[in-house]
Amino acid sequence: MNRLRHAIVGCGRVAPNHAFAFQAIPDCEVTIVCDREISKATELACQYAIPRAVADAREVFSDPTIDSVSIAVDHAAHGRLVLQALKAGKHVLVEKPIALDPQEAEQAISISEQAGLVLSPVSQHRFDPVVRSVQRAIEAGALGRLSAIWTSLVCGRDPDYYRTSYWRGTWAGEGGSLLMNQAYHAVDLMHLLAGPSRPGASAMSNAYLGSVIETEDTVAAIVSFENGCIGTVSSTSAAKDFWHSSITVVGTRGTVEFDIGHPTKLRHCSLVDSRTEEHIRAACLAPSRPPPGVSYYGASHVDQAADFLSAIRDGRRPAVTARDGLLTLELIRSLYRIARWY
Ligand SMILES: NC(=O)c1ccc[n+]([C@@H]2O[C@H](COP(=O)([O-])OP(=O)(O)OC[C@H]3O[C@@H](n4cnc5c(N)ncnc54)[C@H](O)[C@@H]3O)[C@@H](O)[C@H]2O)c1
Repeated sequence: MNRLRHAIVGCGRVAPNHAFAFQAIPDCEVTIVCDREISKATELACQYAIPRAVADAREVFSDPTIDSVSIAVDHAAHGRLVLQALKAGKHVLVEKPIALDPQEAEQAISISEQAGLVLSPVSQHRFDPVVRSVQRAIEAGALGRLSAIWTSLVCGRDPDYYRTSYWRGTWAGEGGSLLMNQAYHAVDLMHLLAGPSRPGASAMSNAYLGSVIETEDTVAAIVSFENGCIGTVSSTSAAKDFWHSSITVVGTRGTVEFDIGHPTKLRHCSLVDSRTEEHIRAACLAPSRPPPGVSYYGASHVDQAADFLSAIRDGRRPAVTARDGLLTLELIRSLYRIARWY
């Protein structure tokens, strides 16, 4: 098969992770980058030696040489651009969340299924070595019966982070802030590790950033899983720390605690099954690649891009399916509703 030709729409903070990831794959080339602010597209093109920079996504979607597209724009535009790309016959890797409106996500899923196109929402932390090894251990029963998953994320954001963005901190542009954006990853990993869930309770506040944002800066939520496990999400952006995360998975045969910063850290691992404990410890010793761009995005966009491209080549489902993204989106939306923030 010929080299796959990939394009990136949206050349903001996360775009270098996409350029780096797709260029790291030998049988793929990134041939177009697009930002409605053409200077951003040109800058990314220069930085990564990408031949073409354009300002209008329609030029990307109508280009017959393009096989697949990363959508890396503000949340509100995900649904529309994903639908346009799929209707133009492109495979799509969309940054999280898959869309803000679940109906748009459903429509995208049905178009991708009918057209045989790969649609995958970014959940790069699902590919972190520590997360993969814990997932395998859970699937093999090495943690016993799961009783709890506690997630915590402290990520200080000052008012300028929101003031300088055209979309963050607004319901229309971001669809919620801390939970929909940064703590999204914690909710998504809870789904990966514990399965289907129901929202229990949630409370939110924006006492710190309320003069700058419409949305929340602090969240506490409880989720119950069909397997009987209880999960919590506690997170705030009203803090001095820039990024401090912790995910604790407790089962009847052991406890594992890790973070999703870069490099990921195993904070604690104590299992009855000592061989599996060794495997988890060894996976976390694997050298991690230096990521481009913002460090806490981690290094695993490369692994998700590789999975996405091999799903295209092999005609199989990607490791992170659009339904996975929809499940996380729906749980997050219901936590906003319970907290009466929608
Ligand atoms: N997976 C992660 O860890 C991670 C990290 C950061 C951001 N993200 C996600 O990536 C997405 C983008 O975030 P960001 O921080 O890069 O945002 P950003 O504001 O830095 O960049 C967004 C860019 O999209 C461009 N844009 C908007 N609409 C466009 C259109 N119709 N056509 C072309 N360009 C358009 C804007 O001009 C802007 O340059 C969000 O969904 C965010 O949640 C994910």
